[in-house]
Amino acid sequence: MHFGVDYYPEHWVYPYAGTAEKPESGWERDAELMVAAGVNVVRMGEFTWGLCEPEEGKYDFGWLKRAMDLMGKAGIKVVLGTPTAAPPIWLAKKHPEILPVDHCGRVFHEGTRRATCLNSNVYWDYSQRIVRAMAGALGQHPQLIAWQIDNGLGAHQSESSFNDETRRDWHSWLQAKYETIQRFNDLAGTRQWGQVVTQWDHIPMPRRAPTLHNPALALDWMRFSSDTILAFVKMQADVLHELTPDRPVTANLRALYRHFDHFDVAEALDFVAVDSNATIKSRSSEMACELDMLRSLKKTSIRTPEGDSGFWVIEQKAGQVNWQDVNSLVRPQVVRLFTYQVISRGATGVLYFCWRQPRIGTEKFYGAVLPHNGRANSRTYQEISQLGEELKMLAPAIKDTKVVADVCILYSHDNDWAMKQPMQPNKFFHLRDHVQLYYNGLHHRNIQIDFARPTEDLSKYKLVIAPSLHLIAAGEADRLKLYVQNGGTLVSTCNTGLVDEHHMAPDNGYPHNLTDLFGMEVLEFDPLPPGEENNLSFKGAFTTSHLHHAKVWCDIIEPSGCQVLATFTKDFYAGRPAMTMNNFGLGKAIYIGTVSDQPFYDDLVVWLRQLCNLQLLLKVPDTVEVTMRQKGDTRIYFLLNHQNSPVRISFYKPMHDFLSGDALAGNYDLPPHGVLVLDEHSPARV
Ligand code: GAL
Repeated sequence: MHFGVDYYPEHWVYPYAGTAEKPESGWERDAELMVAAGVNVVRMGEFTWGLCEPEEGKYDFGWLKRAMDLMGKAGIKVVLGTPTAAPPIWLAKKHPEILPVDHCGRVFHEGTRRATCLNSNVYWDYSQRIVRAMAGALGQHPQLIAWQIDNGLGAHQSESSFNDETRRDWHSWLQAKYETIQRFNDLAGTRQWGQVVTQWDHIPMPRRAPTLHNPALALDWMRFSSDTILAFVKMQADVLHELTPDRPVTANLRALYRHFDHFDVAEALDFVAVDSNATIKSRSSEMACELDMLRSLKKTSIRTPEGDSGFWVIEQKAGQVNWQDVNSLVRPQVVRLFTYQVISRGATGVLYFCWRQPRIGTEKFYGAVLPHNGRANSRTYQEISQLGEELKMLAPAIKDTKVVADVCILYSHDNDWAMKQPMQPNKFFHLRDHVQLYYNGLHHRNIQIDFARPTEDLSKYKLVIAPSLHLIAAGEADRLKLYVQNGGTLVSTCNTGLVDEHHMAPDNGYPHNLTDLFGMEVLEFDPLPPGEENNLSFKGAFTTSHLHHAKVWCDIIEPSGCQVLATFTKDFYAGRPAMTMNNFGLGKAIYIGTVSDQPFYDDLVVWLRQLCNLQLLLKVPDTVEVTMRQKGDTRIYFLLNHQNSPVRISFYKPMHDFLSGDALAGNYDLPPHGVLVLDEHSPARV
């Protein structure tokens, strides 16, 4: 288990620390305090291009090597970030063409991080050179255990830029995809508004225009921009793999907020690392959902520094952020609680952002392990040190364990981007919120969940939930059918199959290519404005005692062989199906043609649990989050109390708590924000 901090030694030299005679002497105390807190790894270097190459071709990696040597003396390993996220000012001055341009043609200027266009050949060449130089200088350092490529890919709306060089690459990308102009015009549907083209270099980039660009083109633009990021990551990964084949590479990703295909990027990496905002967002199930999504990005060929599976949280908040209107302090024990949440969901490394509140720059009031004054008696340092102690005890027990899920939620970036196009049937429909409703239903019952693209092999899952695959590509429909045909249970929802991969609406009924799977067809859909509702009436297999509402979207369904589980009660489609189930091959395809409130999804999961034989992990009160990591017969349970009050848990069989060493049986009061890490008690242990 790696436990560490994001360390910026460059912030802690004279005149900010140390002395004029020994400018770096402050680092020694940093290392001592790190060791005392149980830190065994640091990440550093990710914004240091301007320090490592202060003038073109004049490299200075000496200071980083000295910092790594010091870490070596302290027994602390190092992950180095390649510094390409912050190009030096001299580079922008010499080559202003690397600066990004927005869709209105405005240049984003130098003087900050991410001021670059990823399609610029010049930027690529310089990036490759600094990465090679860094790997050459530091790649064999004994402390180095992994590389982080760049930092915050796509951050600060840097997913795309509209430079001339981008236009060149855009046209090549389109040509490679469509091969002929005729095919492009046909598939992209340029006949609307007579936007047909006769040569590749006439195809527009979706820059500011009087009204909306063709959505098929706009969707391709997002795919192209994503492929650009991917190519940049691969370029760096190739260099690093060539020069330091035994050091795995990663990148710090965010929970799918940024517009590039995270699954594609994860494939190019050896392991996934993530930045987490835990402690800021207190909704534990949202955090859990994001962690499960990120863990699921890479399920095979994982190579972490410790050689096991899993992912790292390479930036875990150590305290408050600095970008909210009011940046309140994080309450005692909350950092600890969320640290256990990430570990419980499969993290094998956790590093806090950041080691010490910097005295300089834009992030000086971010929370950190140490405050500005560097005092070890500070609240957060004490809490992190407690964790450091605990994780030393826990690490051997959780080694090689992983999260195993019977349920999977489908998610594709293509689909998300298709829904982000303007002029949707209902602008109050949000995919992320819709996913969260289903996720919460499962999370409330502590059912473990993976995410997957619709094209993945789904056969190991007992239940697959596909919230609103608005865009269904032909291969995806076949995959879903195969899964159900072979005995799987699939739940799909309204807003599914309204366009294909070319953003073309189907002429053979909604949901596209899936009407046989569901044994019904959606004839029309009725988007509802906020405040308007229909009601659901249940019959047949799925019964509920509550009244559940239908909101946001109501499908008008024509059954053709499916069983009707619920109908709408109002409007001209009163009595028409709202929820259906169809036997298809050996499995079942369930369709929910509306959106409801959380209690509906909670009821749904109770029913699905029985239908799909999903086991409860442990019986605990609803407010306690339970996750399990397992390896063979070893099962380790994490119980997290996200409430600010104690919660009583009744253990029906004796359990052993790794953190306290206690055997637990009968009633136990888990304190506010308390954590238990349990396995079944074996009397031999006492
Ligand atoms: C991250 C970024 C860090 C820091 C942090 C603040 O996304 O990688 O450099 O800015 O946000 O939360």
